[in-house]
Amino acid sequence: MRAELFLIPGPVGEQRLLGKTLVLIDVLRASTTICQALKSGARAIIPVLEPSEAAELRSKIGVDVTILGGEREGIKIDGFDLGNSPSEYTIEKVKGKTVIFTTSNGTRGYNRAAGSKLIVTAGLVNISSVVQKVAQAGQDLVILCAGQDGDFSIEDTLCGGMLLHKILTDWKMELELNDAAELGLLLYRSNSRVLKQTIARGEHGRYLAKIGFGSDVEAAVEIDSIPVLPISRDSRIVLDEN
Ligand code: MLT
Repeated sequence: MRAELFLIPGPVGEQRLLGKTLVLIDVLRASTTICQALKSGARAIIPVLEPSEAAELRSKIGVDVTILGGEREGIKIDGFDLGNSPSEYTIEKVKGKTVIFTTSNGTRGYNRAAGSKLIVTAGLVNISSVVQKVAQAGQDLVILCAGQDGDFSIEDTLCGGMLLHKILTDWKMELELNDAAELGLLLYRSNSRVLKQTIARGEHGRYLAKIGFGSDVEAAVEIDSIPVLPISRDSRIVLDEN
């Protein structure tokens, strides 16, 4: 099985994803928030690019059955119900609702994913569930790291590396890796004992702590703490039922 990792979404076009498993990673914080929203009973998450698009979609689907969530520069968008802290996505707020969600980087990978056979949202909080699904699917894999404003981010690459490490060791599968996947694997293997510290020291970890969201960083690095499997169907992210 071939496994490619991309440090930033930029170079990956739709053609490259055709028929493959696509794993989208934004550890801080979109993936983590998506997992928490689904665990709290959200019916679906609809990722969109812009806040204006979110508002338009809400008026089409219905105000009573939707929640607007997301951030710009880490802060809740004006007029939105929720920001991008996983802890905001409680049962009281989201159960039974469709969350229309836009974040600076994490929600941007979804719009190119139409041709993929399986689309999974991954963070550290659900890594083992993702590994199992991807390994059982058995088809070629593309791991798309959200990065930060067009740059590499250490937490997403570590998560991608951990995913590959677990497929290789827990599932004993052979993988043909691209160089960035090798890099992710090396990065994870040399940091696996200090994962939390490495992520907290990263640029986005430091930024979130500075603007008051240090507890979100702590929540996002808790391995397998939200063991759900978000998959995308018809442009919506829902819980996998299998
Ligand atoms: C993003 O999509 O860039 C992140 O989720 C930003 C954040 O931490 O809110």
